[in-house]
Amino acid sequence: MTEALSVGGRARIGGAAHIECDGLVHIYKVADLEVVALQGLDLLVQAHEVIAVVGASGSGKSTLLDILAGSKTPSAGRAVVNGNDLTRMGRRERTRYRRRVVGFVWQQTQRNLLPYLAAIENVELPMVLDGRSRTRPRAMELLHLVGIAERADARPDRLSGGEQQRVALAVALANSPPVILADEPTGELDSRTSAEIFGLLRQVNAELGTTIVIVTHDALVSEEVGRTVSIRDGRTSTETVHRRERGTDGGYRTISEEFAMLDRAGRLQLPRSHIERLDLARRVRLRLEEDHVGVWPDDAGDDGR
Ligand SMILES: Nc1ncnc2c1ncn2[C@@H]1O[C@H](COP(=O)(O)OP(=O)(O)OP(=O)(O)O)[C@@H](O)[C@H]1O
Ligand SMILES: [Mg+2]
Repeated sequence: MTEALSVGGRARIGGAAHIECDGLVHIYKVADLEVVALQGLDLLVQAHEVIAVVGASGSGKSTLLDILAGSKTPSAGRAVVNGNDLTRMGRRERTRYRRRVVGFVWQQTQRNLLPYLAAIENVELPMVLDGRSRTRPRAMELLHLVGIAERADARPDRLSGGEQQRVALAVALANSPPVILADEPTGELDSRTSAEIFGLLRQVNAELGTTIVIVTHDALVSEEVGRTVSIRDGRTSTETVHRRERGTDGGYRTISEEFAMLDRAGRLQLPRSHIERLDLARRVRLRLEEDHVGVWPDDAGDDGR
C-alpha cells in the first residue's frame, strides 16, 4: 500500500492576528546582483503568543525580523504589526513605531547597549528619546523584572553576556511595546545562561502579555515555546505546534503537531522530509476526502515528471 500524506482541515490559525505577513518579498540589490531573501512569506502571530522562528543560515530569518522591526521596507507583499502597515509607513510614523510598538534584542550583546552608559541609563534612554520624564523609577522596575537590579549602576563591559542580555531585554521593554523581536538573543551564551534568558522571555510574556518572536538555532528552545515556524528559502515552510499534556503517569509530555501555510493562491509547501520519505516528485496524486486532502506519489510513472 502506498503511504498517504494527509492535509487536515484544521491548519488555519487566522483570527485577530497581531502580526500578519502576507506574501512578503524582500530583495537585496548589491551592485548588479539581486538576492531574493524573502519570496512570498506568510506568517500569522496572535496577540500574546511566543513563537520561535528557525531555519538554515541564509533562509531569511533576520530579514524578516528587520522588516517587522521597521528597519527595512519589504519589496512586495504586506506586513501588519499591531495595526501598523509596514509597507506604507512614512518616516515619522516609522520612528514612532520603532519607539513604541516593537522592542528589539540582538544576538551581539554589545549591539544592544551603549558602552558608556550604566545599565539603568541604557534602560532610560528609549524613554528619554520618546520625550518621557521621571524615567528612573520605571527603569529600576524593569531591571527588577529581569532580575538584575543590583547591577543597575554597572556599565555593560562589567556585566557578563547573560547579564547584558537581561539589560537588553529591559531596554527593549522600556516603552512598553506590545511586541518583542529577538534575533538569536542567546547565540553568544552558554546553554545554561541561554535557558535562563528563555525563561525570562517566557516570564515577560506571562506577566506583561508581550507578543514575542524569537529567532533561534536551538531546537530545544523551540520546543519550549508554543509554536515553531520554519523558514526555508525565504518562505514559511512548516509550523510545529507544541502542547504540554499530562500523561497517565502524572508527568507532562510535549505533543508536537505539524502545520503548513496555505498561501492566497492555494499553494502549499510540503516539508522536504515528507517529500523524500514518500519519494514525491513534481506531480503528486490528490484526493479530496470528507475532512482532509490526501497526497500520494504519482504511481502512474514518468509522464508527470
Ligand atoms: N545586506 C545584505 N545585502 C545583500 N544580501 C543580503 C543582505 N543581508 C542578507 N542578505 C542575503 O539574504 C539572504 C537571507 O539572509 P538573512 O540574513 O535574512 O538570513 P538568516 O536566516 O538570518 O541567516 P543566519 O542564520 O545566518 O543569520 C541570504 O542569502 C543573505 O546572503
Ligand atoms: Mg540572521
